Amino acid sequence: MQTIFAATWWFGRIGVEAAYQRWQESKESDSALRLLDAVVEGAAAVERDPQVLSVGYGGLPNRDGEVELDAAVMEGSRLSAGAVAGVRGVLPAIYLARDVMQHTPHLMLVGDGAVRFALQQGYEPQQLLTAESLRRWQEWRRQRTAPKEVSTERSPAEAHDTVGVLGWNAGHLVVACTTSGLAWKMPGRVGDSPIVGAGLYADNEAGAAVCTGVGEEIWRFALASRVVEAMRAGYSAQQACQRSVEFMLRRLPEVAAHQCAVIAIRADGEFGLAATQPERFEAFVCRDGAIERVQASSG
Ligand code: GLY
Repeated sequence: MQTIFAATWWFGRIGVEAAYQRWQESKESDSALRLLDAVVEGAAAVERDPQVLSVGYGGLPNRDGEVELDAAVMEGSRLSAGAVAGVRGVLPAIYLARDVMQHTPHLMLVGDGAVRFALQQGYEPQQLLTAESLRRWQEWRRQRTAPKEVSTERSPAEAHDTVGVLGWNAGHLVVACTTSGLAWKMPGRVGDSPIVGAGLYADNEAGAAVCTGVGEEIWRFALASRVVEAMRAGYSAQQACQRSVEFMLRRLPEVAAHQCAVIAIRADGEFGLAATQPERFEAFVCRDGAIERVQASSG
């Protein structure tokens, strides 16, 4: 039986490689837990990579120079999910999201409460700023003109690229999503990534989807849930992604100025992707270890 992993952006290759390696090495006899473990490991590998400036360690900080992470995981059999938001000093945040799912009666913990839970679970506090992310924050601070500072200030396009990882095996679906969010965001700002239905969704009866891009736009359209519901209605994963993005662009044409992208796997294992700026979006798909780069198309 084929096993599929898919992940967003150039660093999606890191994600699918780590997921597939964990899948192969796993001694877990329960295939659903094995898939969960693999998908979470794929997301964690991207969090640990300091070259990735929008996820985990080395992610660009908020305007106060503090890295705040958002992460979530969902599995499609029981619709179980766990999420954390605005978490400081915890790595990988995706492990903590899984802990919320597996060891609490809740679906999301935020801020100090999430950090307290992490310490109870045995996580060691970590410095998530690297020399490079600190340097970029200091440069941003030097360049910004204080009187024009506004709360909705957008950051560079490169600075809000979430890693989303999908896993499929024998009709079972798992999705993980983790990000440091918009660079230079207001402290406490949360985007779509840890929000079930907005940044991610999985239901074995239909499919799974995960989003990346500007969280405010993705969230207002409940994009992940929209794509999964389109697959439930009978559309292919590719059609579901395309139709959902086209709806966003029709309903609010100004969304075209922002990158909002989604990847999806239907319950039968078919893959799709779409983006408001398709020429700038790529994903990686791994089918039984064979990795393919997939580019979004414009229509
Ligand atoms: N999609 C990531 C964010 O906006 O925070």
